[in-house]
Amino acid sequence: MILERQNVINLRKLQSQLGDMENRPRLAELSKLIKMYQLYQAGQKEISTKLENLDSEFQVNYDYNPIHHMESRMKEMQSLLQKADRKGYELTAESIQKNIYDIAGIRVITNYLDDIYNVEKLLTKQTDVTLLKRKDYIANPKASGYRSLHLVVKVPVFQAEGPVDVPVEIQIRTIGMDMWASLEHKLRYKTDVDSSLVNKYGDQLKGYATELEQIERGMQKIHKDLI
Ligand code: GTP
Ligand code: MG
Repeated sequence: MILERQNVINLRKLQSQLGDMENRPRLAELSKLIKMYQLYQAGQKEISTKLENLDSEFQVNYDYNPIHHMESRMKEMQSLLQKADRKGYELTAESIQKNIYDIAGIRVITNYLDDIYNVEKLLTKQTDVTLLKRKDYIANPKASGYRSLHLVVKVPVFQAEGPVDVPVEIQIRTIGMDMWASLEHKLRYKTDVDSSLVNKYGDQLKGYATELEQIERGMQKIHKDLI
C-alpha cells in the first residue's frame, strides 16, 4: 500500500514564516488556523475523489473520459493571511472561514466544452454537495478574454466531533482555455515585460480567445458526430 502523508503545517515553522507580519495572529489563533487548514485539505480530497469517480464511471459506461486531468492546490497559509489582511478581514479562523472561499482549490481540465457543464451537473447533483457560488466566464468572458467556469461548493468532512461543511473552489475549463489562461497569466504577472508589449500581446491573446472558442466548438461537433 502506498501511503501519501499530507504536508502538515507546523506551528513553529508557521510562526517563523510569518516573521514580522504586522497583524500576526497570536499563538492560540494560529493553532486554530492550522486545524482549519487541515479541514480544507480534507474537503479538497473529498471533492477530488468525487471527480475521479465520475470520470471512471464515464470510462466504464461510455468508453470516454470527460476529464483530461486535474490539479489541486491549497492557498499557502502565509498568502491566505496576507489576503485576509489586505481585504480588511479579522485574522481569525472564524473570520477567514466566513469570508475566503478559495483556500482549497481544484482545477478540472476537460477535453471538450460540453464536458465542463456535464461535470458541473454530475457533481452538484450529488446530495452531499451544495453549490455556493457560480461564475460562468464562458457565457460571459472577462475583459481579458479569460474563460472558465468557477464554482464554489461545500462538502461535509467527517471529523471526530461530527460533520463540518467545507467550501472548495473549482475552476472547470477545456484544454484550450487552460492553455490560453497559462500564457495570459505569464504575460500579466511577468513584471519585466515592457508595457507596450503587454498591451500588444494582450490584444493578440484576446483575439485568440475568440478564435479558440470557435475551434473548440467545431471540434466538439466533429467529436459528437464520430460517437
Ligand atoms: P479573488 O478574491 O481575487 O479570488 O476574487 P474572485 O474569486 O472573484 O476572482 P475571479 O473569479 O475573478 O478569479 C479567480 C481566479 O481565476 C484567479 O486566481 C485566476 O486563477 C483566474 N482568473 C481570473 N481572471 C483571469 C484572467 O483574466 N486571466 C487569467 N489567466 N486567469 C484569470
Ligand atoms: Mg478567487
